[in-house]
Amino acid sequence: MKIAVVGLGHTGLVAAAVFAERGHTVIGHDIESDKLAVIREGRSPFYEPRLNDLLAEGLRSGRLAVHDELDRCLTDAEIIFLAVGTPAANGDGPNLSEFWAAAGQVVPLASIDAVLVLKSTVPVGTTDELIDRFRGKWPNDPPVAAVPEFLRQGSAVDDFLKPDRVVIGTYSTSALKSVKQVYTPFILPEEKFLPCAPVEAELIKHAANSFLAAKISFANELANLCGKLGADYDLVQTGVGSDPRIGRKFLNAGLGFGGSCFPKDLAALIKTGHEADARQTVLEAALAANRRQVEQVAMLADEICGGLRGKKIIQLGLTYKPDTDDVRGSPAMELAFLLAQRGADLICYDPEYRPTDVGSDRVFQLSDSPVTDCPGRDLLIVATEWPQFHDLPWEQIAEKMKNPILLDARNMLNLTRMAAAGFRYVGVGRRSAQ
Ligand code: UDX
Repeated sequence: MKIAVVGLGHTGLVAAAVFAERGHTVIGHDIESDKLAVIREGRSPFYEPRLNDLLAEGLRSGRLAVHDELDRCLTDAEIIFLAVGTPAANGDGPNLSEFWAAAGQVVPLASIDAVLVLKSTVPVGTTDELIDRFRGKWPNDPPVAAVPEFLRQGSAVDDFLKPDRVVIGTYSTSALKSVKQVYTPFILPEEKFLPCAPVEAELIKHAANSFLAAKISFANELANLCGKLGADYDLVQTGVGSDPRIGRKFLNAGLGFGGSCFPKDLAALIKTGHEADARQTVLEAALAANRRQVEQVAMLADEICGGLRGKKIIQLGLTYKPDTDDVRGSPAMELAFLLAQRGADLICYDPEYRPTDVGSDRVFQLSDSPVTDCPGRDLLIVATEWPQFHDLPWEQIAEKMKNPILLDARNMLNLTRMAAAGFRYVGVGRRSAQ
């Protein structure tokens, strides 16, 4: 099929690259010419495993092209995916200005038969609002669908290629047929498709993220309780998560959830609940618990060091999770700011983070290597669970530190191994080893 993808951020660019790889002809649109120049070289403007290969192959085969001229992208498109950013706005759901600006340009330019798919994560009710706003364009049966995306950063290509479900929120039979046709080369069984109304599609997206976020907050509070009672959260997590109705996934305790989706989607669903007079109090508590979790870890650091002022700390990890360079809503970044604010002398290392405009350079020094920068440090904190941290020369690091104390704020390292390397180890609700 001839596909246009408007907005080449994390969702849009992955969608464009994967659709091209599956044999469709795809034209991507973005307003940032610098970004387009990078993509034209077969490189992703953000870190995402496997994406560069797909982009290079798509461009080479001629099935993928990118432009900043919208009309050129939309001319022959049979289906248009709207995937512009809907960034967080003041903890109250997303800012939709870019979304409405893009919709205002796309709808008039699109052919009357072209199917418009909303891939951007928009608050519940937005698809219906879009249909209302542009009612004049489609007198009958507006070919509009809300098809939310569930990919995770760091495994976005795999997630996009093998979706658990394809939720298609539409009133239009032609839109339903076209969306299924786009996914035909993915060879998905019929039961993976979930046709529904737009409002249900939007609710599914927000509810899925909110449930997972609430599960993490539950895990964090339980781990904090384990810490107070001298119980081992690893054992508790295994015991609780072994029940298949609960499952171990998303029960990892630590610094809390972050990123550009969970906090925003949770806030958006809470707001929808307020507006509909159906308060989501469980989610309100989950969001509040998440906000407290970074403070909990900062307090642990304070306790370990006997006050933070003037203490020399090295923090490993700044991104909100591994395999991404994204620090939006990152609890690790928040922790760094909090420690520095409380007077710690902080140096931070991250395999992928590159300073942008968050002002981090005024708060901490960025390290090129934890081995070079650990000498004389009072405390080492692991704040993002990058897998390569397992293979650091821990004996050497422990030997060089002033006080070999390790606060594993992601519960990722092996306690016995760290104790053998010479550390006093402290996790979140894990039994300490020394
Ligand atoms: C999430 C959803 O998983 C995805 O379906 C949706 O499309 C976008 O939002 P993402 O933000 O990429 O994806 O990351 P995810 O891997 O889900 O992790 C989200 C946050 O939760 C991270 O900050 C992570 O560190 C944290 N997390 C995850 C935990 O603290 N504990 C866990 O057990 C799992």
